[in-house]
Amino acid sequence: MRILAIETSCDETAVAVLHCSGDEKHATFSIEGNGLLSQVDIHRPYGGVYPMLAKREHARTLVPVLHTALEKAGLLTPGVSTTDTQELTSILEREPELATQLVTFLGEHARPPIDAIAVTHGPGLEPALWVGVNFARALSQAWDIPVVGINHMEGHLLSALAQPGEDAMSFSISNIELPLLGLLISGGHTEFVSMNPWLSYQLIGRTRDDAVGEAYDKVARMLGLPYPGGPEVSKLAEIDRARGPKHLYTLPRPMLKDAHCDFSFSGLKTAVRYAIGDATLTREEQEDMAREFEDAVAEVIYAKTLRAIEETEARTFAIGGGVAANTNIRRMFSERLPVDHPEISLSIPLPAFTTDNAVMIGIAGYFHARIHDFHDAQTLRAQGTLELFSAHA
Ligand code: KG4
Ligand code: ZN
Repeated sequence: MRILAIETSCDETAVAVLHCSGDEKHATFSIEGNGLLSQVDIHRPYGGVYPMLAKREHARTLVPVLHTALEKAGLLTPGVSTTDTQELTSILEREPELATQLVTFLGEHARPPIDAIAVTHGPGLEPALWVGVNFARALSQAWDIPVVGINHMEGHLLSALAQPGEDAMSFSISNIELPLLGLLISGGHTEFVSMNPWLSYQLIGRTRDDAVGEAYDKVARMLGLPYPGGPEVSKLAEIDRARGPKHLYTLPRPMLKDAHCDFSFSGLKTAVRYAIGDATLTREEQEDMAREFEDAVAEVIYAKTLRAIEETEARTFAIGGGVAANTNIRRMFSERLPVDHPEISLSIPLPAFTTDNAVMIGIAGYFHARIHDFHDAQTLRAQGTLELFSAHA
């Protein structure tokens, strides 16, 4: 099955073509084409993602990114896709520039051999999500291809299970023992979900206030670091660790010992603000603060993971989301979990899958498409606060 996947939930415009086969016992994937445009340079001056700007950029770049993905996949054939231009323009009513570009594109290229279109329909910035969703609906109509709406967090979770294949473009997902416990850590999410049976999710715990990525970004701002702050805080903390033991600051470990699997990161962020006060930190003080913040986050995450494993009797543990790129968190899990739980299989995403991308949407899309879990293209909607555990339960 060949999947065309589209992701526009935040500040990456991404389209991928994946060739997929097998079932959840053993699935193989090959990335045939991949187009990705990051808007991070556009949003950086604002210190965060501007939803309306993100929407405009997605609308401006989706057709070129689709072109790139199809061209790389060798699926760009001159010709004409017969289409009802009026219908297409009405689907893309709110994105007139995108509609014009798409009509031109379809007038110059034949329908590619694609079996299903997968698109992120939530969670994320709703104006940004809508662009991808309407684009997918228009393509579905133009090419008569079924569409499946995918939860962005499910993409993060399932792509974390991918094992590298024969070459850089192929990978597989196999022998995943259930229950699977997933820790989803990103700019908007911090939650434990349990999957059992396959593709059926239950919420085990979540943050009661800030997401961990959000806390990273806010602490970065307090330290005067550029957006996106997560990787910047991580860099400083690593420098401090390399220098050896030194602790100028002590931050709280929120909810560490509480008998539940929820988190709270807003107090930690406030503690950083108080510790800095009016002072302008030296570089070394900044590094030390970054390290202590990372240590506090990691300690809480690990303790809660042990609790969640017990609660769910998990056989597999996976982390996913933008913060899964974090060196300290990756190292902590790979060093400690095999010691504390040698019976559990640990899945840490390949670095390429930690940042937002369309490949992960294609992976999740395949597992739903192969069981014909399609959406009605007429009524598919963007849902900014879409939850994983109710989406496909
Ligand atoms: O998944 P993602 O790209 O977007 C959302 O779905 O939210 O996650 C972005 C978040 C941002 O908060 C960013 O600062 C954080 O992930 N992040 C990191 C690292 N790389 C990205 N946080 C800590 N360490 C990193 N290396
Ligand atoms: Zn994400």
